[in-house]
Amino acid sequence: MTYQPQEDFGTPASRAEEQVSLTIDGRAVAVPAGTSVMRAAAEQGTSIPKLCATDSLSSFGSCRLCLVEIEGRRGTPASCTTPVEPGMVVHTQTPRLQKLRKGVMELYISDHPLDCLTCAANGDCELQDQAGAVGLRDVRYAADATHLGQAKDHSNPYFDFDPSKCIVCSRCVRACDEVQGTLALTVQSRGFGSKISAGLASDNFLGSECVSCGACVQACPTATLVEKKVVEIGTPERAVVTTCAYCGVGCTFRAEMRGEQLVRMVPWKDGKANRGHSCVKGRFAWGYAQHQERILKPMIRSSISEPWQEVTWEVALSHAASELKRISAKYGKHALGGITSSRCTNEETFLVQKLIRAGFGNNNVDTCARVCHSPTGYGLKTTFGTSAGTQDFDSVEDSDVILVIGANPTDGHPVFASRMKRRLRKGAKLIVIDPRRTDLVRSPHIEADHHLALRPGTNVAVLTAMAHTIVTEGLVDEAFVKERCDWDEYQDWAAFVSLERNSPETLEAITQVQAAELRAAARLYATGGNGAIYYGLGVTEHSQGSSTVMAIANLAMATGNIGRRGVGVNPLRGQNNVQGACDMGSFPHELSGYRHISDGETRRLFESEWGVPLDPEPGLRIPNMLDAATDGVFKAIYIQGEDILQSDPNTHHVAAGLEAMECVIVHDLFLNETANYAHIFLPGSTFLEKNGTFTNAERRIQPVRKVMTPLNGYEDWEVTQLLAQAMGLDWNYSHPSEIMDEIARLTPSFAGVNFERLDKEGSLQWPVNEAAPDGSPIMHIDGFVRGKGKFVVTDYVPTDEKTGPRFPLLLTTGRILSQYNVGAQTRRTENSVWHQEDLLEIHPVDAENRGIKSGDWVRLASRAGETTLRADVTERVAPGVVYTTFHHPMTQANVVTTDYSDWATNCPEYKVTAVQISPSNGPTEWQEDYAELQRSSRRIETTVEAAE
Ligand code: SF4
Ligand code: SF4
Ligand code: SF4
Ligand code: FES
Repeated sequence: MTYQPQEDFGTPASRAEEQVSLTIDGRAVAVPAGTSVMRAAAEQGTSIPKLCATDSLSSFGSCRLCLVEIEGRRGTPASCTTPVEPGMVVHTQTPRLQKLRKGVMELYISDHPLDCLTCAANGDCELQDQAGAVGLRDVRYAADATHLGQAKDHSNPYFDFDPSKCIVCSRCVRACDEVQGTLALTVQSRGFGSKISAGLASDNFLGSECVSCGACVQACPTATLVEKKVVEIGTPERAVVTTCAYCGVGCTFRAEMRGEQLVRMVPWKDGKANRGHSCVKGRFAWGYAQHQERILKPMIRSSISEPWQEVTWEVALSHAASELKRISAKYGKHALGGITSSRCTNEETFLVQKLIRAGFGNNNVDTCARVCHSPTGYGLKTTFGTSAGTQDFDSVEDSDVILVIGANPTDGHPVFASRMKRRLRKGAKLIVIDPRRTDLVRSPHIEADHHLALRPGTNVAVLTAMAHTIVTEGLVDEAFVKERCDWDEYQDWAAFVSLERNSPETLEAITQVQAAELRAAARLYATGGNGAIYYGLGVTEHSQGSSTVMAIANLAMATGNIGRRGVGVNPLRGQNNVQGACDMGSFPHELSGYRHISDGETRRLFESEWGVPLDPEPGLRIPNMLDAATDGVFKAIYIQGEDILQSDPNTHHVAAGLEAMECVIVHDLFLNETANYAHIFLPGSTFLEKNGTFTNAERRIQPVRKVMTPLNGYEDWEVTQLLAQAMGLDWNYSHPSEIMDEIARLTPSFAGVNFERLDKEGSLQWPVNEAAPDGSPIMHIDGFVRGKGKFVVTDYVPTDEKTGPRFPLLLTTGRILSQYNVGAQTRRTENSVWHQEDLLEIHPVDAENRGIKSGDWVRLASRAGETTLRADVTERVAPGVVYTTFHHPMTQANVVTTDYSDWATNCPEYKVTAVQISPSNGPTEWQEDYAELQRSSRRIETTVEAAE
């Protein structure tokens, strides 16, 4: 695509069904009621000059450039604030209007630097365009006073603010309020003295409340707010639409390029997940793709104490294949396995699991969903019949009560959080169930109606107590339950939750949630209209993770909150393609589309397509592979795009497992922490360098498009194919579309998916098949996928991880907006400005008892291990609870997490670890040893030429 900015219709589209007919410049037009005259004109191809209007924001009517004449009306109304009316006759281009517009523009330009030729936005500036559009050729007078020469603000790492170019159209302020919901910007003073200010507490963007989402930069019609990259590289020449590689929201962007250089990522207005918005990660944090630490040549070494040796792709792949074959021959085929990546595309993930099943000859394949959302798969499949969320993101616009449990959307899923906050500002009620006071609990114009600050590890008790309230107070939607669910199972469940031992009052001692508050929250959810539940890893990463997911499903079914817009059960997925990785058959017991490997009919389908017999026995999960390795029976692993040393629990155990293997193949962008234990390193490609698809938390399959040539030479699917070929498999895919065609042939829920449709329609939400040819934005509309909805009794069972005198506090973990997962990408960007190290949040009372102040080094110790980090004394956590993130390898928060895991899926219990905190002088001996290991295992001594 050559460069064309996305069309701007001036004001948002109306959702009304009623059509209104009018005439604009002599042409008949029909548009939905509520459409502005400006938009109606734009839709018929007539562009009315404008400055303060843009179609991502509600109209404001301040610049007076968009004036029109309407027959029968006096004056010249602003077209952006005038809604269409039946029979209206509008004139947009008359001599009178031209004169008026020219006068308005002349005033703006008289107070604007005339440096267009050297301005970064030259050729991409609405002020410049509109001056041309109104025919302004000279400015007849000099202003008495101007705003020229004001100091620029360069504090934000990604964009500059030059107030001398500001026309005070307030598009930035409105973008921050309406689109992002942070309300960081204000217009200070009035009249000539008006100026844009980044909050009151700071005189620059970096020190303000700004979260660097970039919505204001995108909205700015001048070069007042401009990306530093545009200043550095120049304006873009072409654009390619692709999908963000960070979180499970799945924002789509126009990757705007100049030559082979990426200039900026502009959120795509037609993207159905993000509707033109983004967060700091997707919009700005893509510098890691060209980071100097990226490994671009394959490497091998005979032992992990040796330096790496750079080799050619041929040498690396044939060495990898011969090692895998040697180990299979010596120890048996079950000694091999692999891990797929939730950061890679569906097609790449599908190939890795195919390599393991068809090439290695076993089902020892697992994915990082093991450590995050595997309980979602189990819980929702058991209760509803499908391992995925029930709604699209648009659905939240129809919610009346939003229940957020164990999720921190403003940090983890920021673009969806902005949409949720917009709905909350319009009046939806909010219940937050979280041990921490997350930003959602109180932020500008939003306050949770109920914050149930439960003790970590008691989710099931809280949800059961809510169910108790709903059942015993007669708030169940019996008609829904009778029609849609198994009535006998419901009755068993209702009898169970009604027991006195499950009342809020009895459970209060365990949950530490006041019974009255909990009852009020339950009543609100059951009776407040459309109730939607959103949840995250604070639900799944527990010993009762699967039970909690089922307890959530029980609540939704009991209250009839399933099967229409505004309701539902919605896991907020962590990584960009964790949904897709699960869909593609990454679990050891399931083929793509969640069909059990023991199912003969399904297996035969794959066997006839792949031409090999498949092992009917489920394979090993990640923790079992590591156990088997330390037991000496699991010897080789292929890990694509996953850093298990940093992301999995009990780091020492992971390290011991990896160290016990004879062949660890890491396929990644960087020498990550797992690569410290690798023998073969295969360089990976970034999302900018590949074609394929990602599937977001809404089950939305979206294209990933190659915008530049892979620096390492190959897309990741090609590397897997080359490895398969080196092992003797007859694979000949020439494009990921052929892999998707194979997925569609083998997976009923993907039957209607292909690249051609994705190119045409932008995205598709599975299931897409004969029963749902256009995809499925909302699931379980007429009935549950499994038939009758299944109520499951979820008895609260306390975790075995107990606090006591040695470890009196509970540690829970999470993530922060600017960083992503183990930080391998975001730590290699300017995002580090906001988060240079993991901090330990501790309540002032607990801190004072230990003589700890903010900024002090503290020792964080558990039964599994210890680490040190700096303290942040804050009331965001309750007394008795501490919190940290896990983005930095030198903190290694997972050194202290335990081996306890979800009873059904082995998902680790990251959210509950009994710990002690004490003052410390600095890093532990372990951390210092680890730093040395990092240094030594990253030695690269020879070049490709030398190795040849
Ligand atoms: S900074 Fe840009 S968007 Fe904001 S008021 Fe000034 S010109 Fe308008
Ligand atoms: S970058 Fe985002 S949060 Fe910051 S001021 Fe602009 S719109 Fe507001
Ligand atoms: S919200 Fe998620 S998908 Fe969207 S831009 Fe941010 S990281 Fe990317
Ligand atoms: S665009 Fe309508 S008043 Fe500014």
